[in-house]
Amino acid sequence: MLTLLTNISELLQIRDNGIRKVSGAEMAELPSIKSAFLLIENDLIKDFGPMENCPSIQPDRKINCEGRTVLPAWCDSHTHIVYAGNRVQEFVDRINGLSYEEIANRGGGILNSAKKLNAASEEEIYGQSKKRLEEVMKMGTGAVEIKSGYGLSVEGELKMLRVIRKLKENHPVAIKATFLGAHAFPSEFKENHKGYIDLIVDEMLPKIASENLADYIDAFLETGYFSVEETERIMEAGARFGLTAKIHVNQFTAIDGIAACVKHKALTVDHLEIVTDEDIEALRNADTMPVALPSCSYFISIPYTPARKMIAAGLPLALATDYNPGTTPSGNMNFVVATACIKMKMTPEEAINAATINGAYAMGISDTHGSITIGKKANLIITKPITSFYELPYKFGDNLIEDVLIDGEIV
Ligand code: NIG
Ligand code: FE
Repeated sequence: MLTLLTNISELLQIRDNGIRKVSGAEMAELPSIKSAFLLIENDLIKDFGPMENCPSIQPDRKINCEGRTVLPAWCDSHTHIVYAGNRVQEFVDRINGLSYEEIANRGGGILNSAKKLNAASEEEIYGQSKKRLEEVMKMGTGAVEIKSGYGLSVEGELKMLRVIRKLKENHPVAIKATFLGAHAFPSEFKENHKGYIDLIVDEMLPKIASENLADYIDAFLETGYFSVEETERIMEAGARFGLTAKIHVNQFTAIDGIAACVKHKALTVDHLEIVTDEDIEALRNADTMPVALPSCSYFISIPYTPARKMIAAGLPLALATDYNPGTTPSGNMNFVVATACIKMKMTPEEAINAATINGAYAMGISDTHGSITIGKKANLIITKPITSFYELPYKFGDNLIEDVLIDGEIV
């Protein structure tokens, strides 16, 4: 099956094979071709270039992209889209003055979602999660990482990871699964942290590994949640089962967690609303990708990740949604990119790099996703007619996507 896109007004994020991520000043560059063609064979990008070099072939399908921009589909490297029910009441409670922490201390927050998750059947959870996944695909997401972490019990965590596996089997979008048993301490382990971590390490992990249910391991490294030492134990145990770490850290407080994650060769450190100079130092020259989640900052009114300071220090940065029922009930990567520009002062070029190639790196898939590169997956966004790609963040509330292609097929 050959698909030919012609007259593309601008083809963004064209890269040679071999690029895995962009860092610091490189993030300001977004290579493109104006007036371009792109040829797709089955699910892969076969060729692209200026229109004057467009091959004269009879493709099975031709899409005239006049006036439209084409770019790689978003790579959303941090989500919790598998959950049951919602937390709208907590949203209203926060409007009325309660903080995220106060709600959690009352047994709301993650424990509220865990109660709902454990009460729901695998089929119910699958149905709700599938809907969310299909919605984000239509909004341009072509690869997504999904975490467990609302089970907090052996059965609950396995149930979530099986739902993720089923989502993966039934959708063309690339999916990576992350085991987040260490999301919160269930109330019965409130005074027995070691007991819960033993359960994660001795029971959950071996079962998950034997069913091959996860690609990565995560923990909520935060004051009042998992300490640096507890998270280190989880990262070490994960590594024994071949699971690289992707860690929630520095959302509310900086407690030297980032250095510990870098030491344990974490693929990513995510959130980073609070970042110290020492944290930046720890990330310098590391392979660990920092990931910012601006929709979370927006929704619960906490600081935004200091992107300018990090990029100025030469660091890379990825952007993701954090789609979850508590802190970010939105999986819209277009909003994430716009908010990164508007609130974090990232340029559109930087934000698009952060949401494509660096997002792919943050899921370990930048050899197949995240750029317009021959041989990579034909996961693409075709915009509506626009004057320049700057309109994408500028018209932050509009849907400027006309079509999304995943594995070469229109979603
Ligand atoms: O990334 N911070 C930890 N975990 C999620 C929120 C979980 C929840 O409130 O349900 C986050 O923001
Ligand atoms: Fe999260």
